[in-house]
Amino acid sequence: MALYEATSSAPVNIAVIKYWGKRDTKLILPTNSSLSVTLSQDHLRSTTTSRADPSFERDRLWLNGKEDEIKPGSRLETCIREVKKLRRELIEEKDASQPKISQYYVHIASYNNFPTAAGLASSASGFAALVSSLAHLYNLTPPLVSPSVLSLIARQGSGSACRSLYGGFVAWNKGSSPDGSDSLAVEVAPASHWPNMHALICVVSDDKKGTSSTSGMQRTVETSTLLQHRIKHVVPERMALMEKAIQERDFDTFARVTMADSNSFHAVALDTEPPIFYMNDVSRAIIAVIVELNRISLEQGKGYRAAYTYDAGPNAVIYTLDKDIKDIIQLIVSFFPQKEGEFKDNLGVFGEQLAGN
Ligand code: PMV
Repeated sequence: MALYEATSSAPVNIAVIKYWGKRDTKLILPTNSSLSVTLSQDHLRSTTTSRADPSFERDRLWLNGKEDEIKPGSRLETCIREVKKLRRELIEEKDASQPKISQYYVHIASYNNFPTAAGLASSASGFAALVSSLAHLYNLTPPLVSPSVLSLIARQGSGSACRSLYGGFVAWNKGSSPDGSDSLAVEVAPASHWPNMHALICVVSDDKKGTSSTSGMQRTVETSTLLQHRIKHVVPERMALMEKAIQERDFDTFARVTMADSNSFHAVALDTEPPIFYMNDVSRAIIAVIVELNRISLEQGKGYRAAYTYDAGPNAVIYTLDKDIKDIIQLIVSFFPQKEGEFKDNLGVFGEQLAGN
């Protein structure tokens, strides 16, 4: 009896043009396109093993060793169903000699090597690893199935997850089709395109976040007038600027647009009723340090040295280049001393070289 099992892992991605707002909450279709950088090293990663077996009596999932219910109609159930459907359509119905493993129930075990739901995009790596491991289990791999096709499924788990199916620099095109068939992730450039780029993760707090991205987005869509301006007049131009900056390895534009878009997203959160605050005093202090660092460098005609960005939580991600990484770590650690191994109310800092080995 064959063993049907596959393990895949997917890293977190951190958006430089933020996704915030859904135009379709069931299919998870966004109100704007977004662009992110997938972190490639081992610090922030989900690893998922899936197994299909005729003896299983229902689909089951364990998250960090604890069983999680797969509720009917949930995003989890949707992702599992959609990958099984792809297996049936592309393999089992085309070739009768292929085993019909899509008919078996699956057991799935997933681990995050970092705090879950602390504004460190655990849902992005989690759903990307889940879809990717099921795709390997079912032989839905290139050239038969591209990461973009899998991104259509991961998107229905958690929007930002669709971008974690590629490494490097990734755009999620919002698309216009009502069925979501063109709302998918595409590669802008592989990580190797900009090898001297680093992401520095500053864990300000590993507490679970206050307002989930799902309820926060819904409230913003319903109440914020600023969001409408952002969608129509801000993001489209920034997407084009950012893609060009990445293609040209233009760090000044990359940094300027990254910080502007983080600010714009948090302004939109504040413009929500009731307002949403994701950053705390430490987050704002880190912004002040980076702004001052860049001001001094720009005054000397040397360009930007670092760019901060914040998701739906207080933790900072700082993008910087090889030449500046040591100085930036020293600066952050000197302003925000940390106790080793203890993140809570302290600042843990770790670096990610995008194309490191
Ligand atoms: O995919 P979600 O529902 O976790 O939303 C993520 C939203 C942000 O992280 C704030 C921005 C982004 O584009 O990743």
